[in-house]
Order: sequence, then C-alpha cells, then structure tokens
Amino acid sequence: MKRIVILISGRGSNMEAMLRVRDQGGLGQAEIVAVLANRPDAGGLATAAAAGITTQVLDHKAYGDRESFDQALAAAIDAYRPDLVVLAGFMRILSEGFVRHYEGRLLNIHPSLLPAFPGLHTHQRALEEGVRLHGCTVHFVTPALDHGPVVLQAAVPVLDGDDEDSLAARVLAQEHQIYPRAVRWFVEGRLSLVAGRVRVSGSHQEGALIAPRLDT
Ligand code: GRF
Repeated sequence: MKRIVILISGRGSNMEAMLRVRDQGGLGQAEIVAVLANRPDAGGLATAAAAGITTQVLDHKAYGDRESFDQALAAAIDAYRPDLVVLAGFMRILSEGFVRHYEGRLLNIHPSLLPAFPGLHTHQRALEEGVRLHGCTVHFVTPALDHGPVVLQAAVPVLDGDDEDSLAARVLAQEHQIYPRAVRWFVEGRLSLVAGRVRVSGSHQEGALIAPRLDT
C-alpha cells in the first residue's frame, strides 16, 4: 500500500474527487492516511473527517516565518510516513528546503496549461489574453512556483460568453478527472523522470494531453 497525505487550504473538491475514485477502487493500492490544512476553516476538513480520514490543522499564522511553518508542516507530514504528498488547492508558497525534502513524491495541480499562467487568477488572465484553450496541469513540484515536470494536462475550450466562474467550473471538472489518474499512475509506479521530463510507462497515449469534447 502506498501512503498518501493530502494538503488542502479550502473547499477540497480535488481531495473529494480523489476519495471518490479511491472508493471506486480507482487509485490502486493506495491509502489516504491524512488530510492536513493550513487553515482551520478549510471546508474540506469536514469532508475528510466525514470520510473517516485523520485530519490535522497547522495554522500558518501561528508561525513567525515561512521556514518555521514549513519545518513544522514537514514534521507533521512525515509522522504519517507518506510515499506521496498531494497538494490539492494548498495555497502556500513552499520553501526550497520543503520541496527538496519531498523531491519526486510531491504532486500539485494548477488550474492552467502550464507553463502558461503560473500564479493566481489563472482563469481571469486566460480570459484577458483571449486564449481559446485553457485547462489544468498535474506536475511534480520543484522549487520554482507552479513549475516542474508535467505529469498530465487536460484542455478545455474557452467559449464566447465565458466569465471567470464558468471557465473555472469547466476546468475544475477536468481537474477532478486528471488528478486521481495521475495519482494512480504514481501509486502503480508508472511515473519516472527522464532528463527532467515525466515518462508514463505502460502506455504511449495516456501521458498525452486529454482534449475533452469541445462541446463540454
Ligand atoms: C483548484 O482549482 C486548484 O487547481 C487550485 O485551487 C483550486 C482548489 O480547489 N490550486 P479545491 O480546494 O480542490 O476545490
């Protein structure tokens, strides 16, 4: 069994999607051993607790600086002995030491087709730029913000008349598809890094861009 710790900051819908897929047997030999949040009011904590998962809050406001919070966070995470740490809407910039500690076993989902639109307000920026394709990216985390080897991406169309909310909802539906899939690949040991890029073994197709039907 691979042990997974999930970090959240808010509603935790990606975490919930992961739990749903796990319940359907779609995560492989994986056990979600804890959900940690940096905000006591993170809505996803109740969802995780209701699913019988251990939850823990480390309020970043209680720490003097980023380094001390990240050290405490790593100590809390390591107590669960994870094989994989999953950032699911965890809205914190992580220090280099933290990221290096989890090198190769720290995944993030970002709501854009990286390397386009790193950082915040991705949907608004996509609308402002007038791009016709937008989407989401699962990637291994490196010290550079929203950067790192891409595991899986999903593209969605940007439609005339979209606003930030409608575009965010279309992207989020795809996040819920690709993140559990990427985690399953990790759990199955199918991901490797070759020259800084992700290889997915066992398939030539699956690591490629998923382009959902343009009318969805
Ligand atoms: C998602 O769009 C994720 O990509 C971004 O923050 C949002 C979190 O949503 N980093 P949720 O908490 O998983 O519902």
